[in-house]
Amino acid sequence: MSALTLSTSSAATLRADAVVIGIAKGRPSGKAAVSVAPGGEAVDTAFGGKLATTLDTLGASGAEGEVTKVPAPASGVKAPVVLAVGLGEAPAEGEPFAPEVLRRAAGSAARALSGTKKAAFALPVEDVAAVAAVAEGALLGAYAFTAYRGNSGDAGKDAAGKKSAKAEKAGDASAPLAEIAVVGAKPRDKEHKAAVERAQVLADEVHRARDLINTPSNDLTPKTFAAQAQAAAKEHGLKAEVLDEKALAKGGYGGILGVGQGSANPPRLVRISYTHPKAEKTLALVGKGITYDSGGISLKPAGHNETMKSDMSGAAAVFGAVVAAARLGVRANVTGWLALAENMPSGTATRPGDVLTMYSGKTVEVLNTDAEGRLVLADALTRACEESPDALVDVATLTGAMVLALGKRTFGVMANDEAFRTAVHEVAEDAGEDSWPMPMPAYLRQGMDSPVADIANMGDRMGGGLVAGLFLQEFVTEGTPWAHLDIAGPSFNESGPYGYTPKGGTGSAVRTLLRLAEETAEGGLG
Ligand code: BES
Ligand code: MN
Ligand code: ZN
Repeated sequence: MSALTLSTSSAATLRADAVVIGIAKGRPSGKAAVSVAPGGEAVDTAFGGKLATTLDTLGASGAEGEVTKVPAPASGVKAPVVLAVGLGEAPAEGEPFAPEVLRRAAGSAARALSGTKKAAFALPVEDVAAVAAVAEGALLGAYAFTAYRGNSGDAGKDAAGKKSAKAEKAGDASAPLAEIAVVGAKPRDKEHKAAVERAQVLADEVHRARDLINTPSNDLTPKTFAAQAQAAAKEHGLKAEVLDEKALAKGGYGGILGVGQGSANPPRLVRISYTHPKAEKTLALVGKGITYDSGGISLKPAGHNETMKSDMSGAAAVFGAVVAAARLGVRANVTGWLALAENMPSGTATRPGDVLTMYSGKTVEVLNTDAEGRLVLADALTRACEESPDALVDVATLTGAMVLALGKRTFGVMANDEAFRTAVHEVAEDAGEDSWPMPMPAYLRQGMDSPVADIANMGDRMGGGLVAGLFLQEFVTEGTPWAHLDIAGPSFNESGPYGYTPKGGTGSAVRTLLRLAEETAEGGLG
């Protein structure tokens, strides 16, 4: 994890390997195609006020995500390199840059500086929200998954799984930017300090989720995932309980067992909880944790299974968010449920046509073993409701249909209560995560009518993401405000990195869930 400091020094005199400044589109003075954003004044002065013209000459446009490196002038700037990152259109006179614009720009800059030791970020930080955004973006952009690089499986990691100093040393082009100084922030200001501390914990926990998602399924099984939850609980003072396959059988968790029974790696249900002594409300979070989704007997064809190690992204997000809430001392109780199973075909696997008796007592005809996420979630949702939380949110890479509907960067939000759905959508936007409210049309329920059981695990193909939501709703106890986030699109980035989003596991929903916990503490939810 990169170190982050707040600095009152001028960007020009700060000892660093690079200075990051922002540039916006437009020709306010009628000269250059770009303008230097607030925060970059000292650097511009060292360029004799010609930094915008220089960047213009180099073809910089100020577009979001654009990165242009220029050598520092002979004198006036201590760092050898100036990196200009695009901020898009400048906001209206007197308005600040949007936090998400700053977050993405800081992320793009941090990525472009991997292999560098220390960078000073001299971006427009006019308020505490901007300080937080720059800190978050830079930290989230400074990520690399290197555990499997080199000649040993644990290359770069010590026995505790921490990256060694060697792996993080500067000069290694794949090593993330090691030190981030946010210039213009106030190191002695309480709010600024809190914002930075929050950004650090947040980025840490997003990185925890990304690492879990990127870990291949031969190393991340329900058992090893559960062990990591227990270890983190111990480290950060949370409580963790793990139900193994025997306990699951005793408890009647037919959904989780049915999905996991075909695998040599048996399933687990983890309850990881954080309690605050002064908490008034409890938020329950449920995550889909399919450590590998082969589809089971309804096997996925080649071309659809290569990224299915990421089918535990929901559980990873819940895990990260619960630990983040604990580390930040959020004044709410947060209970995470990780529904962990590996979906494999074998002689012991659930067959299409089998009927499972779920934890709730309802029976499910499994028409398609590839619709496994809703089965493990159903048991966890019913179990979570027994504790009467004030609000319940599940997160899952649930359907390909949601990816078709919303694309790869937006998750769907469904809920049994319209006001709650709106609240979750708004909290996500606040956190800098793209989401969209989706309906749960009642007529789609009849597509899941089964001739032999209470419900089938599949219904109409059209609107498949909504059908999955309707299935889950059957296992939520009435009266519990519940929302369902289908993160199948944004959880795993198969194309190139952008902003603070790396290739591979993204840590989607961690930031939204942490904000939800904070809102719960502030009494705004549940
Ligand atoms: N894990 C998949 C959904 C998924 C697809 C996640 C693509 C990420 C990217 C899920 O278990 C699944 O297979 N869903 C089926 C449901 C269908 C059989 C009703 C799907 O979406 O095709
Ligand atoms: Mn599946
Ligand atoms: Zn799945």
